[in-house]
Amino acid sequence: METLAVIGCQFGDEGKGKIIDFLAKDFDISVRFNGGENAGHTVVFNGNTIKFHLVPAGFLRSKTSVIANGVVINLRKLSEEIEMLKKFRASFDIKISHISHVVTDLHMKRDRYLEELRGKGAIGTTLKGIGPAYESKYGRYGIRIADLYNKETLEERLSFLSRVYGISYEKSYVDSVLHDFAKIEGFVTDTREYLSEEAESGSRILFETANGTFIDIDYGTYPYVTSSSTVSPGITVGTGLSPKYFRKFIGVAKAYTTRVGEGVFPTEIKGEEAEILRTLGNEYGSTTGRPRRVGYLDIPMLRTAVKINSLDYLALTKVDVLGKMKDIKVAVSYEAGGSEMKEFDPSNLPEKINYEQFDSWEGNRSKLNRYIEFIEDELRIPVVLVGIGEDRDSIEKRGDIAL
Ligand code: GDP
Ligand code: IMO
Ligand code: MG
Repeated sequence: METLAVIGCQFGDEGKGKIIDFLAKDFDISVRFNGGENAGHTVVFNGNTIKFHLVPAGFLRSKTSVIANGVVINLRKLSEEIEMLKKFRASFDIKISHISHVVTDLHMKRDRYLEELRGKGAIGTTLKGIGPAYESKYGRYGIRIADLYNKETLEERLSFLSRVYGISYEKSYVDSVLHDFAKIEGFVTDTREYLSEEAESGSRILFETANGTFIDIDYGTYPYVTSSSTVSPGITVGTGLSPKYFRKFIGVAKAYTTRVGEGVFPTEIKGEEAEILRTLGNEYGSTTGRPRRVGYLDIPMLRTAVKINSLDYLALTKVDVLGKMKDIKVAVSYEAGGSEMKEFDPSNLPEKINYEQFDSWEGNRSKLNRYIEFIEDELRIPVVLVGIGEDRDSIEKRGDIAL
């Protein structure tokens, strides 16, 4: 079997969608294994902009798209997304795990309630009910796709959830959930069984993470994180596939750094320079439309991402955008407690950041090459793909990916 996993190396929105779409043409199956509708993976082609939220961004080019058990699913959003995607692909194959958890209106209300309760300490979630859906999963009072086959089971689960949250719901809501379920029921299957058979028979499988390494529930900037495993070790649990099937891992990093929502951001820039970069990069959230915070590339952060995810390759996106900036800096190390730190540790934040300066490379290829080679030297992995524009074809291959 040949497998490749695509991982976000920063705080999400690194341009994973575009890289996945590019890679998917060489894979039989694309798989989402974590997160939910909080993800927004953009693919731009023939003047169309598609934002994938629940369906893998490899949908357009791989034979089969799998939404595995680690994903939390808003049924209505998923059926709307599949409906929208039909315009772009007449015949397709989607498989949805029967043990995925469902995000209900109660989870969304709970998300909003918790954010309000946090007040000044609000995380800035996407309000898509993601945290509460994982909370109910691990609290053992969640609702799984498999629970929707029996109305009584659904009623019992919803009623328990409602009592846990102290949030009521209309009786008609049960039928509305079943109505939404009916639209996707035909895609439901045992995806663990399917994926292990395919892996065993030599199919080429592409795994797609949602979100990014530093908003991972364990390794991110807790509590300003999402609620799932966004890193490569999460793929096994999120799909049910044994670690023996995992071969290669490619990280996606933006040529600079962005973050939506609250939490630490060592290389963040503010003021006029930030506004210029935000405008040049059109840095507004794909899911919520919120302005993204922006900053320089952070090599210590990427070094840590390489280790956590055991990355073999890097894809660097948006070099076209950064190249337009007059002043380009890259964080190469931090200082804290009188010593130099080469990696990003969310529990030991830098007091000072050491930067390296780069020239703008617009119209000057060798200056861009210097930037890319610098990153390769620092991270000790090759940059095999470079994003040079929004469109699907605006991508340069610098090296091969051996699986
Ligand atoms: P994802 O969540 O990691 O898939 O990233 P998003 O889709 O949320 O955000 C990335 C944004 O950058 C999208 O609007 C993409 O269309 C855009 N994008 C991706 N790669 C490039 C690139 O190389 N150059 C430019 N200019 N835009 C890019
Ligand atoms: P993609 O897959 C960027 C952020 C939210 C918030 C925190 C928790 O497009 O890269 P949540 O709704 O998950 O409970 O929010 O995580 N966040 C993302 N930021 N890209 C994403 O996904 C994100 N998914 C969640 O902004 O700060
Ligand atoms: Mg996104």
